[in-house]
Amino acid sequence: MGLRLGDIAPDFEADTSKGPIKFHEYIKDSWAILFSHPDDYTPVCTTELSAVALSSADFASRGVKLIGLSANDVESHKGWIKDIDALTQGSDPLDFPIVGDKDRKIATLYDMLDHQDATNIDNKGLPFTVRAVFIIDPKQTIRLTLTYPASTGRNFPEILRVIDSLQLGDKHKITTPANWNKGDKVIVHPSVQGEKVKELFGDDVEVVYPYLRFTSDPSTKKEKA
Ligand code: BEZ
Repeated sequence: MGLRLGDIAPDFEADTSKGPIKFHEYIKDSWAILFSHPDDYTPVCTTELSAVALSSADFASRGVKLIGLSANDVESHKGWIKDIDALTQGSDPLDFPIVGDKDRKIATLYDMLDHQDATNIDNKGLPFTVRAVFIIDPKQTIRLTLTYPASTGRNFPEILRVIDSLQLGDKHKITTPANWNKGDKVIVHPSVQGEKVKELFGDDVEVVYPYLRFTSDPSTKKEKA
């Protein structure tokens, strides 16, 4: 069985475009995103990495460390990064590590290999990695997994949105509704009942059903929720 939400993200040592890393040491007490790519010098992956480089300030402001992985060696990554930096016109050079995983050791550890597309293999017949995403919290616990096919580039604003939701939910007793974005109303956590509702949210509670109660985004107000 693959990795599940709540599992500790497996530790590993790897060579990366920024030199060797030990994954848990790299994460330390930060949030992290580990995301994989099928192959270097491929069009969709190139657009994804330039999009992440251009959003690096949005990840940094949330305390999130980035680490990519692609099923090639580090020398190949370094050449490819030059193309990506040319695409972003040097405004946001790609400054996070990309793991060299030519032998698929880490891809296997994280169950990132493509099993549905038999044609998705390299010239040695090894399966490529899919577009997996792991959001990992400062306790090194996996909080989200996403798996996209090679044909479809990921939506990184969605990953930032999930981070906002997870970080807010860890701090306050709330959950977030469909299509929520930072600043929108949030949902009072179902475990908050009785006097606790007023204690945490005051009069700022809109009861739609007894099980669906909205309140303002706690990060927009000075509350103890
Ligand atoms: C791409 O990034 O464009 C890609 C990579 C592997 C297979 C198909 C597309």
